[in-house]
Amino acid sequence: MAEKQLVSTIKYVAASKQAFFLSEVIPYLDKPLPVHELFSIISPKLPDLGLRAKQIDGDFEIIRIPHAQPYLLSLEESKRQVAFFSARIIPDLLARSIEQYITKKVGKEWDDPVIIERLHRAIVAQKDDYWKPARGRSLQYTKAYSVLGYLAYHFPVYFVQTEYLFMMLARDGLLKKSMTILDIGTGPGVVPLAIADFYARLDDARATVYSLERSEEHIEAFTYLRNAFVPRGGRVSVKPPVKTDIRMIDLAALPDKIDLIIFSNVLNELLDVSMEVRADIVIQLSERLAPDGSILIVEPADKENSTRMRSLTIALLKKGLSIYGPCSFIWGSTCIAPRCWSFETAPAIKLSRLMETLAHCEDSYRYVNTDIKYSYAILRRDMLKRESYHLSAGSRFLRFSKLHLHVGKRINVAGIKMSAELGDVRSHVFKLCDGTAKTSVYAVLPSYHITPENDLITSAPYGSILELRNVLVRYNKEHDAYNLLVNRNTHINTINSQKN
Ligand SMILES: C[S@@+](CC[C@H](N)C(=O)[O-])C[C@H]1O[C@@H](n2cnc3c(N)ncnc32)[C@H](O)[C@@H]1O
Repeated sequence: MAEKQLVSTIKYVAASKQAFFLSEVIPYLDKPLPVHELFSIISPKLPDLGLRAKQIDGDFEIIRIPHAQPYLLSLEESKRQVAFFSARIIPDLLARSIEQYITKKVGKEWDDPVIIERLHRAIVAQKDDYWKPARGRSLQYTKAYSVLGYLAYHFPVYFVQTEYLFMMLARDGLLKKSMTILDIGTGPGVVPLAIADFYARLDDARATVYSLERSEEHIEAFTYLRNAFVPRGGRVSVKPPVKTDIRMIDLAALPDKIDLIIFSNVLNELLDVSMEVRADIVIQLSERLAPDGSILIVEPADKENSTRMRSLTIALLKKGLSIYGPCSFIWGSTCIAPRCWSFETAPAIKLSRLMETLAHCEDSYRYVNTDIKYSYAILRRDMLKRESYHLSAGSRFLRFSKLHLHVGKRINVAGIKMSAELGDVRSHVFKLCDGTAKTSVYAVLPSYHITPENDLITSAPYGSILELRNVLVRYNKEHDAYNLLVNRNTHINTINSQKN
């Protein structure tokens, strides 16, 4: 217990200070111990916390281990990425390779009406299965058509989505010049192939990408697409996927000091195990992470998968990982993710030739998948956070956990924008979070009240920290939620936290 409290106190202090003395944490401990005893408890844990100690006059200075130099995109590299995001379509070579793979697998041209009809059926079957309650789902990808349907319907969106996520990692300084990456549940290689494409627009960054997958059909598709799309001897080396079940992983067979572990749309497919077991799988894999490495979890944005994923991240926090973003616990206390449905969006992709062909029919909407919506979290073993903004008891803002005491009153709050537009042109609605609420909180701005002083609520990107002064608290009984009404007297500003 003493050890647990010491670790969490050190984590807390280290999150706000580059260096501090071990003696400084003594006042925060229920059972104060002499410095040398504290040191013998904490010293084996320091490297995992991204910290090191230096003895100075009977005390120990605790210092953050500097992170590897981030790979920051040059102007030219950024321009190339922006051009890709303007086009928002999978590269032609990859699109053709998918078509050729379908032709090879089915022994007929991919656009033969019989094949298109079979792909239609595979897509519908996969979607029907997805929307069954978790226990009734049977996603196994053992049949050729389930993977061909995935290539036609899901691949393009998840491919472009991964590129958006890499752009975010690059902007956050979480990419390094040379990286070891592990993709869990890689399917037909969506993530590794998107990485190869993203890196092709960088000048001299390198990556070695490993992956795990249990479905042979997926592995076969991945291998074909990799050979067709990823240049041999290039700056990105995509290793052949390892066939394994991630519920029974042989850690020793994995690379060490991994810079980035990705779970993209996979944890929700572990249907037969509890949240606790899913969290343990992530924790187990995190042992192979470099001290300054990141874990990226991505899940579909639908309510069930999104809320479950957010609860999973809180379970991971309790098991010792820290959350880099998008959540930020600005009052210092950890949230309990109450029904937290929060997702990021990006502009829809353009149709590939294959999807256009699938859409030449009566119910075309059933075969077209272009919307990008995803829930994500980045976790770390060190305490690096995207935002370092903190509020304390004396600040002039009200915690969301106290909103019930202020219904009908005008107040000041600070929180993170945790959604894109949830309202409409007449009334803008955005989810807000400050990490303390047990009930959902929304900012509501009627369009006739928009002013230059409050329109940041609409324009600030997902994940921004906002201070809202002079909002009216309303309780929405129907949705058991609090609405913070923004009007023309409300002033909103954003906080650009310093990153270390
Ligand atoms: C929805 S696909 C996601 C593929 C890819 N990551 C993406 O984002 O498009 C889920 C993948 O996880 C794999 N998967 C599910 N459970 C697994 C397990 N227990 N072990 C290994 N792979 C698993 C499936 O075979 C499938 O390829």
